[in-house]
Amino acid sequence: MAVTTSGRDGQDRLTARPGCSQNPVDGRRRGPRHPAYGPEVPLRRPPPVAGRYVLLEEIGRGATGTVHRARDLRTRRYVAAKVLRGADPSTLAAFVREQAHRIEHPHVLAPLGWAAEDDVALIAMELVRGGSVRDLVTRRGGLSEGLVALLLGQLLDALVAVHARGLVHGDVKPANLLVRDGARPHLLLADFGVAARSGRPAPVAGTPSYLPPERLAGALPDPSQDVYAAGLVARRLLAGTSPLTTLCDSMTRPEPARRPSALSALRRLRELPVAGWHGASDRR
Ligand SMILES: Nc1ncnc2c1ncn2[C@@H]1O[C@H](COP(=O)(O)OP(=O)(O)O)[C@@H](O)[C@H]1O
Ligand SMILES: [Mg+2]
Repeated sequence: MAVTTSGRDGQDRLTARPGCSQNPVDGRRRGPRHPAYGPEVPLRRPPPVAGRYVLLEEIGRGATGTVHRARDLRTRRYVAAKVLRGADPSTLAAFVREQAHRIEHPHVLAPLGWAAEDDVALIAMELVRGGSVRDLVTRRGGLSEGLVALLLGQLLDALVAVHARGLVHGDVKPANLLVRDGARPHLLLADFGVAARSGRPAPVAGTPSYLPPERLAGALPDPSQDVYAAGLVARRLLAGTSPLTTLCDSMTRPEPARRPSALSALRRLRELPVAGWHGASDRR
């Protein structure tokens, strides 16, 4: 969500040590089992949040809180749970707003539900097993132009839907783009923690290195700001020069009025001669 620090989104995966167990709620490690300790004292598992979500290991971390794999006892499925603890009222209000943005679109990650108990609040979401685009780049380095075009096309498709709802995502960056594993990567736009109504006053939030100059100077939220961030993401993902670079340049123009809309950027992307890019099936 609001990131003005150097967030370590997606970097803090815990690796369990053999013989140790970890309490996912307080994060403390319990000691190794050893015969000298006598019979093992049964561990007290933290109770499910709101009687429903059993928190398991941490799978990601952002500015707001931690994301855990969790077991939903009602549906008997594994989900991802974004967990907030002991938040101040404004953070909690942003959290409540985040779970309210439910955009049904194949490339938007919508919350499945939420729960709160004492000072713990969580948003449950689909567990996206491929990690984030940031993880992808960490693993592979620069991406081929075909893969960047595929991901950019899916991101622009998601942004068209977000903007049509009068919303500005406000924090488009690799750590907020999740990738579902499969025959071909499927991008999901996540983290609506700082999403705002287009044209309505909202505090300047997001990640400074992905915000356009006018937003940093205090301009109202506008869809062109997401287009700017998407162009920057695509340019940073590319391993070398490509026909895509020209499109990225137009998306990241300093003057917002000269940037294409998400829809016209998507149309231009589909005209480009990029190897391995076959466009989305749902052509507009
Ligand atoms: N649904 C999910 N499935 C798998 N991993 C996720 C999911 N949601 C978030 N993550 C991981 O957790 C990180 C932080 O999540 P995010 O929603 O961006 O939190 P914040 O609002 O704190 O930035 C992401 O970069 C990603 O690595
Ligand atoms: Mg985030």
